Formats: sequence, structure tokens, C-alpha cells
Amino acid sequence: MTLLDPVWTSLLYLAAAVFFILALRGLSSPRTARRGNLIGAFGALLAVVTVFLSARLDNIPWIIGAIAVGTAVAAPVARRVKMTQMPQLVALFNGVGGGAAALVALLELSHTGDPWVRLAIVFTLLVGAVSFAGSGVTFAKLQELMTTRPVVFPGLPVAMAAVLLAAVGTGVAVVLTGSLPLAVLLMVLGLAAGALLVLPVGGADVPIVISLLNAFTGLAVAASGVVLGNVLLVVAGTLVGASGTILTRAMAAAMGRSVAGILFGAFKGGSTAGSTAVSERPVRSSSAEDVAVLLGYAQRVIIVPGYGLAVAQGQHTAAELALALEARGIEVDFAIHPVAGRMPGHMNVLLAEANVPYESLKEMGEINSEFRTADVVLVVGANDVVNPAAKTSSGSPIYGMPILEVAEARQVIFLKRSMRPGFAGIENDLLYEPQTSLLFGDAKDSLAKVLGAVKSL
Ligand code: TAP
Repeated sequence: MTLLDPVWTSLLYLAAAVFFILALRGLSSPRTARRGNLIGAFGALLAVVTVFLSARLDNIPWIIGAIAVGTAVAAPVARRVKMTQMPQLVALFNGVGGGAAALVALLELSHTGDPWVRLAIVFTLLVGAVSFAGSGVTFAKLQELMTTRPVVFPGLPVAMAAVLLAAVGTGVAVVLTGSLPLAVLLMVLGLAAGALLVLPVGGADVPIVISLLNAFTGLAVAASGVVLGNVLLVVAGTLVGASGTILTRAMAAAMGRSVAGILFGAFKGGSTAGSTAVSERPVRSSSAEDVAVLLGYAQRVIIVPGYGLAVAQGQHTAAELALALEARGIEVDFAIHPVAGRMPGHMNVLLAEANVPYESLKEMGEINSEFRTADVVLVVGANDVVNPAAKTSSGSPIYGMPILEVAEARQVIFLKRSMRPGFAGIENDLLYEPQTSLLFGDAKDSLAKVLGAVKSL
């Protein structure tokens, strides 16, 4: 006996699907993203409640217990995670989703003799396991539990081909026989394929792979919807698969890479490995007072935020500095590179937190032609996204990535702590150019000192 009849169940599933679509729409702009997130969460809650009211469930205490444990672990982690660690968290949640879809499919194998349903089970098992293991490796890389550099070994392409061939053969056997041990073997092969797929990817490309694995999880969930005969899972999984694919392509384009190049580049020896060597060339270092004079008497200033601003949590001070300069009649903008920081939209979120108006945030395509008219560019904790090696050095791991053209400005000031390179691990020649000066120190402290000096000009 269930509380909801099939018509009501379908209507509520339809409503949840509409909420998911509205959530995606909200997430497409920083202004509406928070609301989009809440709408999506509400859609998910509605879907879960509908399942409880419409399906004949066994083991309800176990199900509620699992939900309670999941909530008790995930909610505090999500609350406490630093913004800079968000990609790892997304990787973890995403991997768990793929793993869950695979386990559900495994359990359903004994309940069906239909070869088409078995085919969907095989797909879910394989793709879900790839996503689980691949996401685990991306988590370990970003959390620096292992090297962020590409891990390659002789015979890697052969090992990958062997695993994939074995997976196809085992998958066919599972469809034909419905054998549980073979299904478990297929999952193990999927885990191996996921790890082998991600190990050779270099650190700078890992977020793109997270997004790709997110799309994989979506497809696995959609296939598990076919297995369970649940339309909402098919819809939600397809939405995740499609949006993950679009995000993957957009991020790859922003970094000037192809998705195939990211996944298989290291197989051919071309990877995103960088050198962490720091050269001994002299640089021009400045004091906060010198920087304040340059900024305070400029007409046009562009601030380029990067990962270091997020680490230092200097966004509020940066916003205050922009206001202080504007109060002196100076035109100030923030130039946003699509992959500045460690996740898509990182700088937008950071600066929105400090109430920087959206009109002051200029995307790369819009601001690049304006650097040549800027008197001063203040690069705060950014490095790779302004590194001219992306244009000039064909051997460089970031070669081909579109950059913010800060070298065009009359003066460039870098706020950073040392001469260490950025995420890609390569030197930035711009640091040694005659128009460049460096103010060494934590970005928040340096900004505060510069702000104080601007105010006393
Ligand atoms: P990075 O190239 O990583 O440079 C960060 C800079 O901040 C470094 O020069 C570092 O120098 C400085 N820094 C770190 N902590 C600081 C602090 N407390 N105070 C002052 N400076 C500090 O950053 P970016 O220019 O934003 O580029 C992002 C990189 O990450 C790209 O390579 C991108 O491909 C990659 N990536 C992007 C994403 C997405 S989707 N956004 C995800 C993962 C990776 P010091 O150590 O000398 O201070």
C-alpha cells in the first residue's frame, strides 16, 4: 500500500524535474546562483519525499539511517570547507554519486532477466566505477595527498587498452549470463580504468577532468534510472551529463586545450608538468608607499585577482582599495580570467562576497583590449593567468591558454609572497620586465598597507 497513486507520483516527479531545470538556469549567473542552488536542493528533497510516498520500500530504518549518516557527514564538511578546496569537495561528492549508481545497478542484476536492462546495468556499473575511482584520484591530487604532476609509466597506454578490452568482454558476458561475480569483476575493471584515466592528467587540468567525471556520473545515474524504471533519475542524470559536458568544453576552451588532449596528452609525452625552478634574475621590488603613489595618481587602474587573493582572504581589502581609488576619481575595474583561482567562477564568488558591484567585474574578452589604456595593473595573487609564456613559449604547459594581456599596461605591480611560480609550476617572465614591480608579502597585508598609504596621500 502506498500513499501516492502513479498519477500524483508522475506529477511530483515532473515538478522536481522543472525545479532542476530552473536550478540550472539560476546557476548560469553569479547574481542568481544562490537561488538556483536552493531551487535544485528543493527539487531533490521533493524527489526523495515522493519516492518515500510512492514506492513500496523495504528496510526503511536502514534507508533512513543511511540518509542520516550521509547528512551528518556531508553537511558539516560542506559548511566548513574553504572556498579554495571546493573542487576537491565536488570531486568527492561526484565520485560518491557514481559509486552509488554502480552499487544500485549491481543489486538490481539479480532482479532482472531482460538483456536490455542488463545492458543498462553494465553501463551503470562501468561508468559509475570509472567516475568513482577517477574522482578519488582527482581528490587525492587536489588535496595534495599525492603528486599533482602527471603520473605516467611505460606501458600505460597498453594497460589502459587491456583494461578497456577486458571490460567490454566482461560486459558482454554479464549481459548474456547475468553473472554476479562477472559484474563485480566489471566494477573492478571500471575502477582500474578510472584510476588509469586520471593518473596521467597534470594538476592544472584536474578541474576539467572533475567536470568530465561529473558528466560521467550523470550518465551512470541516468542509466540507473532505466534499470530502476525511474523517469526522474533518467531526467536528472541526463541534465547532469549534459551540463557537465558543456562545462567541460567551456573550461577546456578557456584553458586553450582540447578534452582529448588533456586525457591522452600525457600518454604521448605532452603533459601539463611544469618546472618549479626559480631563476636568479633580478626583479624590482617596491614598498607599499611606492605602490600607493602609482595607484593614487593614476587615471585608470585594473585589478587582476587570482588564487593568492583567495588564499589570503584579501577580497574585502581589495574592494576597499578599489573604493578608495574611485573616491579619488580613478576608474577601477577587476579583470576576471575564467580559470583564475581553483574553480569556475572562483573570483566572481570571492568578489561578490566583498560586495564588489558586478559592473566592475570584467570578463577576459571584454577587458583585454583595455589593458593598453591602463596606467597601472595590480596583479593580486595571480600568476598563470597573466603569464605571457601561454602565448610565446610553445613548449610551456600553459601554451595556448588565453591570458589577461596585462603586459600591455604602462605599469604592472604584482602582490605575492615570493618568487615561487603558480599552479602550473612555470616561471613568469613578466615578473622580470622593466615595467613590472613586486610588492612581497601576504596579499591581504600588502593590500591593507597600500590602502593605508593611499588614504594618507
Ligand atoms: P596561480 O597561477 O596558481 O598563482 C597564484 C599566485 O598567488 C602565486 O604566484 C603565489 O605566489 C600567489 N599567492 C599564493 N598565496 C598567496 C598569498 N597568501 N598572498 C599573496 N600571494 C599569494 O593562480 P592564478 O593566476 O589564479 O591561476 C590559476 C591556475 O590554477 C591556472 O594554472 C589554472 O589553470 C589552474 N586551475 C584553475 C582552476 C579553475 S577552474 N579556476 C582549477 C584548478 C586549477 P607566492 O607563493 O609567491 O605567494
